[in-house]
Amino acid sequence: MKGDFGSMDTLAVHAGMLEDEHGAIVPPIYQVSTFRFKNVEQGAAFFAGSEEGYIYTRLGNPTIKALEVCVATLEGGSAGLACASGMAAINTIFSALLKDGDHMICSKVVYGSTLGLIKDVLTKFGVETSLVDTSSLNECKKAIKPNTKLIFLETPGNPTLVISDIAATSEIAHQNDILVVVDNTFSTPVIQRPLDLGADIVIHSMTKYLNGHADVVAGMIVVKKSNIFDELRTTLNQIGGIIDPFAAFLVHRGIKTLVLRMERHCENALRVASFLEGHTKVKWVNYPGLKSHPQYPLVQKQMKAGGGMVSFGLKGGFKAGKALLNNVKLCCLAVSLGGVETLIEHPASMTHSHVDEKDREMASITDDLIRLSVGIENSEDIIQDLREALDKI
Ligand SMILES: Cc1ncc(COP(=O)(O)O)c(C=O)c1O
Repeated sequence: MKGDFGSMDTLAVHAGMLEDEHGAIVPPIYQVSTFRFKNVEQGAAFFAGSEEGYIYTRLGNPTIKALEVCVATLEGGSAGLACASGMAAINTIFSALLKDGDHMICSKVVYGSTLGLIKDVLTKFGVETSLVDTSSLNECKKAIKPNTKLIFLETPGNPTLVISDIAATSEIAHQNDILVVVDNTFSTPVIQRPLDLGADIVIHSMTKYLNGHADVVAGMIVVKKSNIFDELRTTLNQIGGIIDPFAAFLVHRGIKTLVLRMERHCENALRVASFLEGHTKVKWVNYPGLKSHPQYPLVQKQMKAGGGMVSFGLKGGFKAGKALLNNVKLCCLAVSLGGVETLIEHPASMTHSHVDEKDREMASITDDLIRLSVGIENSEDIIQDLREALDKI
């Protein structure tokens, strides 16, 4: 893209379109593992870093680079690092920035495998983590120790949709020389830009909204300042959790319609959440775009819209929820989220089933909680499907 066109809609279409010698208008797929050097001198210069060029796909690849530039641009960061999955991105950050004896603060409401990585893997390397209600600044402040190096926020949190204040947390963290990482998977830069709010690093499971078509598993790290980037890149290169060029191509293609898709996800989710809130069999609804969300003022401060995720519980508890899940026809009973199709799932027995019951309770992931990833179908069709399934309970 020539010139400076800063709006998100335009950037989503054009960002990362690197110069191509043949004038290709989308990034070609460099499905290669290695690159030929012109001569020994050039190979040595690439390895020494005195000349820029591609060596080996685990260390860099033009198709992957195009996607990294694209997402870094959308997030307002200085550089991006594409990974094999969202978990590979999170693991790369922890491995690069934490060491034996360090302490980390993490939102107590996070994706189940993030918690698994912290509890099962990080502890083996001597890293201590406090799981904290990061929606409370006081709790966050109280948890800071002299050896705290990182605060990891997931906001909105999966699956309760609790919100943490990114700007206020970043301020406290920076006063104590602590880095702030935000998992922005649920919001995408269309709705929330954590780096603008003061965070240092953003991660994505690009498996979700960024790709948007439920056909790729991928992750991304974006840094605000370049000083920590080399350490992250070296760690990723050594751990080896890189994205495949074809997956990078597909995600980049998906991002071109990200703004349009997010607008529709948000519109539909608001309609579906409002329908659920008014239904006699529904006990509670959590949706950041509803005025009834307990942190609605904060949502308005840091998010442009409520997003596409809704969680709710039925008056009949999980027994009734099970009947709902078994009776929907359009909504697909599946985990994951952020694709064009509406997905419905039960976190306590699915995405968060390997989280201890005690930890689930502490994070308010109640047994009756049903999570809906509202797709871009006609909202009336989604509502009709839910209404008919609710009628059968
Ligand atoms: C908020 C969040 N972060 C991270 C992940 C992990 O991403 P991946 O499955 O791409 O490894 C997920 C997966 O569902 C998620 O929901």
